[in-house]
Amino acid sequence: MKALVLAGGTGTRLRPITHTSAKQLLPVANKPVLFYGLEAIAGAGIHDVGLVVGDTAAAIEAAVGDGSGFGIRVTYIRQQAPLGLAHAVLVARDFLEDEDFVMYLGDNFIVGGITALVGEFAATRPDAQIMLTRVPDPSEFGVAQLDQSGQVIGLEEKPRQPKSDLALVGVYMFTPAVHEAVRQLKPSWRGELEITEAIQWLIDNGKAVRSTTITGYWKDTGNVTDMLEVNRLVLETIEPRDDGVVERDCEIIGRVVVEPGAQVSGSRIVGPAIIGAGTKVTGSYIGPYTAIGADCLIDDSEIEYSILLRGASVRGVRRIQASLIGHNAEVTPAPRVPQVHRLVLGDHSKVQISS
Ligand code: DAU
Repeated sequence: MKALVLAGGTGTRLRPITHTSAKQLLPVANKPVLFYGLEAIAGAGIHDVGLVVGDTAAAIEAAVGDGSGFGIRVTYIRQQAPLGLAHAVLVARDFLEDEDFVMYLGDNFIVGGITALVGEFAATRPDAQIMLTRVPDPSEFGVAQLDQSGQVIGLEEKPRQPKSDLALVGVYMFTPAVHEAVRQLKPSWRGELEITEAIQWLIDNGKAVRSTTITGYWKDTGNVTDMLEVNRLVLETIEPRDDGVVERDCEIIGRVVVEPGAQVSGSRIVGPAIIGAGTKVTGSYIGPYTAIGADCLIDDSEIEYSILLRGASVRGVRRIQASLIGHNAEVTPAPRVPQVHRLVLGDHSKVQISS
């Protein structure tokens, strides 16, 4: 069995952060979200992995390398444009050969891995096996309709009027039957070759499509709220560790990881939290569920339930909450008078100002 991991595409919902970086490399507890997926695949005993990449190929390759760090062998597959999940299967045709495969969306996070699901698929070998989960906002996803006996009878991609609240999770298992299905597709209303339509084609052509409804936690990390939530969840499981320098005038409470080369002085850190390698924290409060990336600077500030990416700095600001702060971003207090808001915002930024 092989794996096809999708790490191309563009991360429009995380703009402007993903103008400059791949959304699959955004960190959860200071580790790229894509790495959790690769670990889950290796954990399921799959070692031959095709990694579909697009414009951000260089960054993904620099991070993942040949895959040996994960115990897998990675073959990079270039997709010229993000023309859809089924298009990725088309361009990976040579790599996939005639083997069964698991397709894993590189921005998805599945708690508990995929070992049991892969085992179930390998034992029963339907033509396709999909994973579903109940969501409050199904129109943001592919949505499945089941009959009374639990059989999948219909699938729709991001429907305006969803027929159920069962969303497709970004992990799919296929036999080579899917190749004929993807060859039949025409671009959808959003200009993509939809994997949902390929699975619908399998159903319409009498192939076996099974579904498993998972109750375990999972998220598509395509937006900031979800990223913060996944970050919280993973931080809940960290083991405390101090590989940096924490001065005596600090108070460290709960599960806190201080990575090598980090320096903390005159500060209070309440876990679960992680302070990245080479980061300096002085005279500050870092609250629960916060992941500070590498080489950041936090001075005279308060931060809680947030993610800071590498090289960000926060000085003299309290209190930052539920925030995602990009690489090398700088946050400083606004001058007290005059009472104006002076903004330099990237395209599509969203800002909330209390006035
Ligand atoms: O997360 C689950 C959802 O993922 C499913 O419920 C939907 O049915 C499915 O279409 C997909 O929807 P998204 O809109 O969230 O997909 P997105 O465009 O974010 O792409 C998912 C991943 O695949 C992401 O890591 C980028 C990558 N990708 C995407 C496209 C369209 C590619 O590598 N190539 C592509 O052409």
